[in-house]
Amino acid sequence: MKFETRFTRDFIKRSLPAGVRRVLEIGCGSGELAASLLQDGVSLIAIDNDADSVAAAQRLGVDARIAAWPDFEDGQFDAVLFTRSLHHMHPLDKAVQQAADNLVIGGRLIVEDFAYETADEKTLQWFADVIDRLDGAGLLVKGDDFLSALRSRTEMVKLWRENHESGLHSAANVFAEIRRVFGETQCEEAPYYFRYLSQAIVPTADHDKILQNLAEQEAGLITRGTILALGRRFVAGRNKS
Ligand SMILES: C[S@@+](CC[C@H](N)C(=O)[O-])C[C@H]1O[C@@H](n2cnc3c(N)ncnc32)[C@H](O)[C@@H]1O
Repeated sequence: MKFETRFTRDFIKRSLPAGVRRVLEIGCGSGELAASLLQDGVSLIAIDNDADSVAAAQRLGVDARIAAWPDFEDGQFDAVLFTRSLHHMHPLDKAVQQAADNLVIGGRLIVEDFAYETADEKTLQWFADVIDRLDGAGLLVKGDDFLSALRSRTEMVKLWRENHESGLHSAANVFAEIRRVFGETQCEEAPYYFRYLSQAIVPTADHDKILQNLAEQEAGLITRGTILALGRRFVAGRNKS
């Protein structure tokens, strides 16, 4: 299993409600997370509005279906998961309300997402330094225009925003909407910049170890307040009918 999938899976597993029976994953992509949860005995349906992604998930043995959230119904679930997908879903209020409506009482909404709006100059300078160091160590696959542009260190925040703002919900709006629908919501920060580097690190046997080291360095810098965290994780329970 890829490091980034394991990183997400560990968060999901510790957030699932006790005795979980039925899980819905929304925006499953090519299904790596869903397949790993299935292997752990979790009963799961996954949806995505991209037919190629659904076909890839099905090849991993996932009960994946083509559907555009919030237009999907298949009974009630003990947990609804969005990993890096809720920021794409419009309208946001309906996407979150439909998740609540599809949960049993006591069921949980579990969201992994990113606060792209928080990226600041200092954090992006650090990120450009990380990319430079990978290149210096001969570990960088060239060809990612966005990462190359960041390394130029010219108007980094503007560049970052231009690459993220179009049609994506901010984490602040996602958090506000979840709180509006669910009430009390746990929010934690998490490393996330390392995810941009997965495709950019040379595909050797050490790939996952390098990525894990980067994620651990990122976590340490967040804890010390040296950089701003990009990752956000939200967990909320459905407590009322
Ligand atoms: C950034 S990818 C994340 C994929 C996967 N969850 C992961 O963490 O690797 C976002 C996914 O959400 C899907 N998606 C976006 N809007 C959707 C919608 N309204 N309904 C279902 N899937 C959607 C996209 O097709 C894409 O596969």
